[in-house]
Amino acid sequence: MSGKIRKAVIPAAGLGTRMLPATKTIPKELLPLVDRPILQYIVEEAVASGITEIILITSAGKSAMDNYFRQKPELEEKLRAMGREADAERVRRTWEMANFTFVQQDEQKGLGHAVWCARDAVGDEPFGVLLGDDVMYGGYPVLRQLTDAWEEYGLPAVATQAVDDEHIVKYSSLKMEPLKGRVMRVTDMNEKPTLEEKFSNYAILGRYVLTPEIFEILERTPPGRNNEIQLTDGLRELTLKSGMLGVEFEGRRYDTGNPCDYVETFAEYALRDAETGPGFRAWIMRKAEELREEKG
Ligand code: G1P
Repeated sequence: MSGKIRKAVIPAAGLGTRMLPATKTIPKELLPLVDRPILQYIVEEAVASGITEIILITSAGKSAMDNYFRQKPELEEKLRAMGREADAERVRRTWEMANFTFVQQDEQKGLGHAVWCARDAVGDEPFGVLLGDDVMYGGYPVLRQLTDAWEEYGLPAVATQAVDDEHIVKYSSLKMEPLKGRVMRVTDMNEKPTLEEKFSNYAILGRYVLTPEIFEILERTPPGRNNEIQLTDGLRELTLKSGMLGVEFEGRRYDTGNPCDYVETFAEYALRDAETGPGFRAWIMRKAEELREEKG
């Protein structure tokens, strides 16, 4: 299979239980990192990777996500009338970036099931997947690093980096052989392995380029780890059938799915932001000094 990747699926149907009670009314993907929701960074990465169609997998009670990417002409008009052109443009960008399709996942049966829910919206073409919890920071968009590999080799691909033992058991583990530079050939994989079961410390991290064959595979993939239909189990079959690339991506991945990592991610983005960066940096220095004094 070949062809340009135009569509991307963003599974964002999870309940966000680790971030309750904030996520009682706000989907976890809409929590902000400085001035934008997490989800907007993810959509921006997709758009910067050449994606024009975004397929969001949502669930009941998460209509705020559909709303976020819809037009709000009254708000834009109001801002323009107030002379706040730049703010109006920022609002406009949220819905103008791409075409959005929303697919509701009725039952929470796992990531593999969430991706399978996109089958009609994707149709018969290769597509990208970006997980709603994983924010990537780096110059060259991570999904683009995968679509580049797809264009060169015509094979599906997963984004990977080495993680420590504490994390590999929570993610997935890859068995790979060198191919060229940062691109490797995946030969096997498993989801949430024990340290004895892991193939390596290379984990799949939140970005994929897949072919529509995966839908037929996921349709009959039985529940795996945590009794959920695991995307990794489906990918393993795709790997053995048609091959798979592992791209050791450049850039840093941030997890936003639990309070501690979310706070760290927020702080990183606040430090890098042109507006909040200088003041926040000065505050952190003062705070660090204060903590040192307290300790001493
Ligand atoms: C998911 C995937 C896993 C991947 C991880 C990090 O796990 O199932 O293969 O390594 O994301 O991107 P989750 O964090 O949803 O348990």
